[in-house]
Amino acid sequence: MKLWGGRFSKDTARMMDDFHSSISFDQRLYRQDIKGSIAHVMMLGKQKIIPQEEAELIKTALEDILKDIEDGKIEFDIEAEDIHLNIEKLLIEYIGDVGKKLHTGRSRNDQVALDLRMYIKEEIQTIQSMLQKLQEVLLNLAKDHIETIMPGYTHLQPAQPITLAHHLMAYFEMLKRDRGRLKNTHRNTDILPLGAGALATTTYPLDRQSVAAALGFPEITLNSLDAVSDRDFCIELLSDLSILMMHLSRFCEEIILWNSHEFQFIELDDAYSTGSSIMPQKKNPDVAELVRGKTGRVYGNLLALLTTMKSLPLAYNKDMQEDKEAVFDTIDTIKMCLPIFTRMIKTMKVKTDNMYQAATGGFINATDAADYLVKKNIPFRDAHKIIGKLVFHCIENNKTLEELSLEEYQSISPVFDESIYTAISLEECVHQRNIIGGPSKQMMEDVIQQNEFYLDNQASYE
Ligand code: ARG
Repeated sequence: MKLWGGRFSKDTARMMDDFHSSISFDQRLYRQDIKGSIAHVMMLGKQKIIPQEEAELIKTALEDILKDIEDGKIEFDIEAEDIHLNIEKLLIEYIGDVGKKLHTGRSRNDQVALDLRMYIKEEIQTIQSMLQKLQEVLLNLAKDHIETIMPGYTHLQPAQPITLAHHLMAYFEMLKRDRGRLKNTHRNTDILPLGAGALATTTYPLDRQSVAAALGFPEITLNSLDAVSDRDFCIELLSDLSILMMHLSRFCEEIILWNSHEFQFIELDDAYSTGSSIMPQKKNPDVAELVRGKTGRVYGNLLALLTTMKSLPLAYNKDMQEDKEAVFDTIDTIKMCLPIFTRMIKTMKVKTDNMYQAATGGFINATDAADYLVKKNIPFRDAHKIIGKLVFHCIENNKTLEELSLEEYQSISPVFDESIYTAISLEECVHQRNIIGGPSKQMMEDVIQQNEFYLDNQASYE
């Protein structure tokens, strides 16, 4: 018989158990469930809601159950529906009637909200440390490439020269924001819902603050209806992780381009590439493609949960059981993507000559040529036109700006002198961009130093 079977005259259909039970996926919450139950039962004892010795007995049995689950000795029962009822059922099997006192002053509605919050808090910390590692790899790679010149693009057309360090540190900044969002979600998750009961708290004199302290929650929820109905913390997590995946997918797209035959800016390590079953020459960037692809399922999980929660009346509704698979699948996906993505970046070979080569030969320094004229007191709009004419002249004559003779320059504007050639050298173009946020050597060194400090002090940032 079901633990809740008193008012029923027959058992649920097998099809019903298959349909509504969540044990197949929520069993991963066993640790949080047991930890939460121990804190709850110890408080029941302390408050004399149940005898202290019985609370101790339940605690010891819950610890035994934890150990038995971890030793693989427990087979969960689909008829017991979910992880909460499975553990309660085991408890009663282990110690008999005393076990039936555990659920005093509690509902699965506040229990599941607690378990999920505890689980998400832990997982956020794991993801934060994975992000820390990825940022360290990016920062170290950037340090090696402060002077590696490459084309910067807009519209995927060569725009202005930058450095690889500048490009890599752009992703570093995105990851900083991702971590900030996760930190905020952690804060919103770190609130104890236990004590909300099914929806309207309970008549027992629970000491919610002591449960919060025992479980490491700095705050407790202030409205019981909200406490059992709220899944904002799950949606926030999925939203944070969707944005993170969006960032990774953009990076992946660039890795795929850079690794292509046409670009050849990098070469991915063999250990993180795959071959083709038919084309012997192929070496495919599967890690980058899969991370890019998995972004879709992470967005899908966010949309699924937003839609599930839409229009749900207060308080708990069984619809909300759908939260877990979306959360679990997203966390699993992120935890699979981040370490391999980090390895892929760490092991890739950078082809600095090809990057440099790609930045030459076009008109990537045209802005700098215009700025040269501005420094000689020509208004920018006029300078823009003059350089436009020069570029047109170059295209007509199949030349680059560097290849034009001084006479050719002067035929368009007498203001040009020999110094134009230094002004449009790629090195000069990059290192003259010496304001905060720019690619110059000095600025990159400065920014990298600031970000080293950030990485060393993450605890105070988070
Ligand atoms: N398995 C349920 C869930 O994940 C637990 C809460 C069930 N509460 C209820 N009143 N049926 O949402």
